[in-house]
Amino acid sequence: MTHARLILGEQEYEFPTFQGTEDEVAVDMTKLRGKSGAITYDPGYANTGSCKSAITYIDGEKGILRYRGYPIEELAQHAMFSAVAYLLIYGELPDEKQFLVWREELTRQSLVHESMLKFFDHFPPTAHPMNILGSMISSMSSFYPYDAEDEEKINLNIMRLLGQVKTIAAFSYKKSVGQPFIYPRANYSYAANFLRMMFATPQEEYVVPPILENAVNMLLIIHADHEQNCSTSTVRMVGSSRANLYACVSAGVNALWGPLHGGANQAVVEMLERIHRDGANYKKYIEMAKDKDSGFRLMGFGHRVYKNFDPRAKLLKKAADEVLGVLGRTDPLLDIAKHLEEVALSDDFFIERKLYPNVDFYSGLIYRAIGIPTEMFTVLFAIGRMPGWIAHWCEMRNDEDNKIHRPRQIYVGMNERHMTGLPPHTEPAQIPKNTPKLAQVSV
Ligand code: CMC
Repeated sequence: MTHARLILGEQEYEFPTFQGTEDEVAVDMTKLRGKSGAITYDPGYANTGSCKSAITYIDGEKGILRYRGYPIEELAQHAMFSAVAYLLIYGELPDEKQFLVWREELTRQSLVHESMLKFFDHFPPTAHPMNILGSMISSMSSFYPYDAEDEEKINLNIMRLLGQVKTIAAFSYKKSVGQPFIYPRANYSYAANFLRMMFATPQEEYVVPPILENAVNMLLIIHADHEQNCSTSTVRMVGSSRANLYACVSAGVNALWGPLHGGANQAVVEMLERIHRDGANYKKYIEMAKDKDSGFRLMGFGHRVYKNFDPRAKLLKKAADEVLGVLGRTDPLLDIAKHLEEVALSDDFFIERKLYPNVDFYSGLIYRAIGIPTEMFTVLFAIGRMPGWIAHWCEMRNDEDNKIHRPRQIYVGMNERHMTGLPPHTEPAQIPKNTPKLAQVSV
């Protein structure tokens, strides 16, 4: 197939097509408006390829996810998160020497600028850690400005971002519980360093249990990239204006925070807690999810791309059982989650719409077992997604097809009209005393 034909009214137009390495077909519509004056309408971009990318491949029908060609199952079970970060950003897994240098460099860059530590004092105690993370990353561009053409500096800032994100995350937790910061250590893995910074105190060392280190390592890998999702597209959108790395990634953090995206892991556990408080009556909530008027959705269910199963959810369900088993704990929320999954998967509403548990359905239960507070769940997602955001930002910078992102719209507002009467053109010097409040004016 080399061309696609579009008939619009009396006119026929031809557009070139091309294929990806996994044989996906794309119709190149870049000349559509120029040729015909029409545009495509695709809210949510469900059918729109915004770029060519060599980072991550997903086949949503078959439940396949691969980073740079490697199946997620292999990486999640056998790789270290920092090696996967290297793979995503530079295209290949590091050899032993490269890995040691990379790991050392990430640790070296993991200290937060001393002046930035003062910021933590000025957030209200109720501040959400995602907000703190986004703000801190945004402010890194003031502390570490770089020349957009200086590849060496860009590389250094990539390592700073990867190294510091876990430190900022752990420090925001320490601040929220009123404990002193614990600094990262060179001889710890990425996951173990994060856990130690969260749970050690100056009085008591935290010996990181291997089962928890492995679980966090796997969780970070599973979240590391997911091609053109909402937050990654945000990073690319902001980056298309040539904004700096920190500005783009902090925008990604804020996009991730929403409950339909990364915020779903927090929303899942809150939903399970709600069901638990309601006598574990999960069937009632299945019915509510099916009733469009209820405004209730089964959080952690459904995905724009996966229409068979989410391979990440499969790995996490197994991991949740293992972690709780080794810790010798039970969690009533895990039982409710399994019941919900079982009932939903045999219910026509969910079957017809191809709604399956997604990555967020079981991840929160593992975080809970580790002792991570609910508000930190999405922060963990952000730490994991960092290499993906960076990889896409780098790929976009070097992509000669990249243009500033500037979608079109179909205007559906008023046609041209004109002002009548004598509206006030000028502001009065002083607002008259009896001016009605906005709430009293009916529009
Ligand atoms: N519970 C009940 N009904 C649902 C759900 C759900 N979780 N998800 C989708 N539906 C229904 C929806 O009402 C619609 O029904 P109908 O065709 O009758 O109008 C149909 O399924 C298609 O839904 P959609 O909202 O058009 O699908 P989408 O591709 O735009 O949205 C989604 C995908 C993930 C936002 C959505 O499934 C959802 O809101 N899920 C719950 C939130 C969630 O778990 N988000 C995490 C996503 S995975 C992590 C990540 O990568 O961000």
